[in-house]
Amino acid sequence: RARVAVLLSGTGSLCAALLAATDDPGYPAEVVVVGSDREADGLAHARRRGIPTFTCPLAEHPDRGAWDRALAGALAGHDPELVVSAGFMKLVGPAVLDAFGGRLINTHPALLPAFPGAHAVRDALAAGVPVTGATVHLVDAGLDSGPVLAQREVAVHPGDDEARLHERIKQVERELLVETVAALVTPTGTAPRGTRKSDR
Ligand code: GAR
Repeated sequence: RARVAVLLSGTGSLCAALLAATDDPGYPAEVVVVGSDREADGLAHARRRGIPTFTCPLAEHPDRGAWDRALAGALAGHDPELVVSAGFMKLVGPAVLDAFGGRLINTHPALLPAFPGAHAVRDALAAGVPVTGATVHLVDAGLDSGPVLAQREVAVHPGDDEARLHERIKQVERELLVETVAALVTPTGTAPRGTRKSDR
């Protein structure tokens, strides 16, 4: 099975969904390490399963470049084919991009290029859009700006607040991530039907 590394900063429900998918021996990927920029709650999902974890806090490095090189090194030590940023709230730098560019994906709670950044759900609500959603995309040097691999829509309901809407998006995001990871590591795979922009 393909070796996948996960990066997270929060509760890690997306990581938990990916780990649950790997319980099926037919799933084509396994999670070999989960890393974070902090002592995040989400690391517990991996520890419970005996999967290695690491933390790479920015404050423990002299500058952002040193932090980025340390993160690249920590990931490389586990030899992942694919790196998944699943609620990782830091921008990676050139060392990580040099090592993993083209096989580093991020999941985002909006229909990119709409609402990039750390407050995508709040921004979509504030803009009053009737539909938002989830995007899995390749990471490049920009903020949530790399090529889109898969997207799925989520309707905004009257009376939605940020927490309710984000939870509905995350339900969709978990499925989209699990399907997209499988498609990416399967040689003949394509993005799951109905999720490519061209299908919409
Ligand atoms: C997810 O919605 C993810 O897309 C988002 O954080 C949440 C993490 O949820 N990431 C970003 O907003 C990055 N810009 P989780 O901790 O429950 O997996």
